[in-house]
Amino acid sequence: MCGIVGYVGENQAAPILLDGLSKLEYRGYDSAGIAIYDGEKIEMQKVMGRLKVLEEQTHGGQTMPGTLGIGHTRWATHGCPSDTNAHPHFNKEHTIVVVHNGIIENYGKLKHKLVQKGYQFLSETDTEVLVHLLTEYYKGDPISAIEQVMRRVEGSYALGIMFLDHPHHIYAARKDSPLIVGESSMGNLIASDVPAVLKYTRSVFYMENEEIACLSKENIRFYNIDGDELKKESSVIEWDIDAAEKGGYEHFMLKEIYEQPKSVRDTINPRLKDDNVVIEELGMSDDEIRGVKKITIVACGSAYHAGMTGKYVLEGMARIPVEVDLASEFRYRNPIYEEGTLAVIISQSGETADSLAALREAKKHGVRVLGIVNVVGSSIAREADNVMYTWAGPEISVATTKAYSAQIAALYLLALKFAKVRETVTQEEFLTLKNDLEQLPEQIETLLGLKEKIQRFANRYLAANHMFFIGRGVDYAIALEGSLKLKEISYVHSEAYAAGELKHGTISLIEDGTLVVAVATQERLYPKSISNIVEVKTRGAFVMAVTNFGHKEIEKTADYVIYIPKTSSYFTNSLAIIPLQLFGYYVSLGKGLDVDKPRNLAKSVTVE
Ligand code: AGP
Repeated sequence: MCGIVGYVGENQAAPILLDGLSKLEYRGYDSAGIAIYDGEKIEMQKVMGRLKVLEEQTHGGQTMPGTLGIGHTRWATHGCPSDTNAHPHFNKEHTIVVVHNGIIENYGKLKHKLVQKGYQFLSETDTEVLVHLLTEYYKGDPISAIEQVMRRVEGSYALGIMFLDHPHHIYAARKDSPLIVGESSMGNLIASDVPAVLKYTRSVFYMENEEIACLSKENIRFYNIDGDELKKESSVIEWDIDAAEKGGYEHFMLKEIYEQPKSVRDTINPRLKDDNVVIEELGMSDDEIRGVKKITIVACGSAYHAGMTGKYVLEGMARIPVEVDLASEFRYRNPIYEEGTLAVIISQSGETADSLAALREAKKHGVRVLGIVNVVGSSIAREADNVMYTWAGPEISVATTKAYSAQIAALYLLALKFAKVRETVTQEEFLTLKNDLEQLPEQIETLLGLKEKIQRFANRYLAANHMFFIGRGVDYAIALEGSLKLKEISYVHSEAYAAGELKHGTISLIEDGTLVVAVATQERLYPKSISNIVEVKTRGAFVMAVTNFGHKEIEKTADYVIYIPKTSSYFTNSLAIIPLQLFGYYVSLGKGLDVDKPRNLAKSVTVE
């Protein structure tokens, strides 16, 4: 996810763009740049690093005079953070310049065609395809050129565009990535999100998919992809600045919980092509995939819990032995490395010291390492032999949600790829699993509607001191993550247990009213799950069950039931975790705690 801004009016544009970008840094902060029309030509400055590097380089924008410009703060997806990969991107003649937020899913094919036509690419980004395509189609009419580009590209985009021979206008286009247009007496603006324009106006237009905007200092025109002019109604923003940075949500964590449909969709879609799973960045031939004898997953915290899910899914689907290790244990237990092992290091930040050390330990013993990482260009991403990015965008809240969901989505894809290559699933099973995978974002969306119901239930447990989460198989992995979410933001002690293990000691802790969250999404294990619920019920527990639509008989045993939509038993983690994330969030909120910055924790644990 990135942040884009644009301005056209009477005032100097550069300071306005820099100010707007500073309000969007939560969307991405590995590099930034601005392009300004100075009366003759389009000047551009862009640099790797936080926005303040660009501010210093341009003396707060003073070195770039002009009243019209666009800007960008980047969260790298394609191409590591660097000056060259930073936006904006020029065409060769410097007559067209573009900033982009989103993912062009067919950029590889388009880039190949453009290179064959003689276009030279300077960056590794998908975005640069757009500026050369615009050059290809531009015959003097910006709207027409933009329409033609929109018809060619697949994926998501929010675009800011300038054409040198239209020096009094900036253009914008949108599909799936957010984009607003602000109208004000000091000029007109475009931005990825409200915070960037609130200082100048509360009157905004929300662009819809496949709409184009043309802004001058006097007016704003909208068009559809067929070039028809549109009449749009403006909205008045009621938020205050602080709320606006969180997109109107009270906390980044809630915002990021709500971004999960997108983070899962952005991680899955570019890798499901026609009837296949395409993970080019895996860097492994089918023979190499067939040659993998064992997978060792190593991670910390929630990434470790994602790895636990990966174990069940990879072993179940691809019939390949999988070990899951805590990185802090792996790096010191002198593990035995077998021929044909693939190490998978999972990390949102890509900077976790234990996980990075585990990666280096594995590589030292000649083990091939795949990183599953969210931050492009991070240490783990750079040092792994290959990296499969989770395109969740920057995650601000210390408690991970959308990155975790993207990690398990990446593991599903890996399992599906291995299963197809190793022929451990029939073509029919593969297509059913692929279809279930594609449904997940929408199913997550429906579960977000449980917000109020979960909040009411959570408010009954604000005074609780102990809770238990239990589950079997994949449900155990879900219980682990649900328990951690609660602990780390609400400070309520909880334990996650393999449901069948509770009776071997810990069940002595169950007393009247103890809340036990029972995750029961594995149909073939329903009877066992029910008997575990009965075990704790007879000792006084209050049981909240999370199970599949249709499994109504559980209501005879559990006290409170949350139903999740039907999906493959491999993928239920992506759905069952939503109510558990919301539960942890609302317990913390109800206790008046700092949800986004819990005590004692850091977003990235870069120390041992
Ligand atoms: C997750 O909610 C926690 N904040 C923490 O367990 C985190 O998952 C762990 O520190 C690993 O971080 P990483 O994914 O950046 O490596």
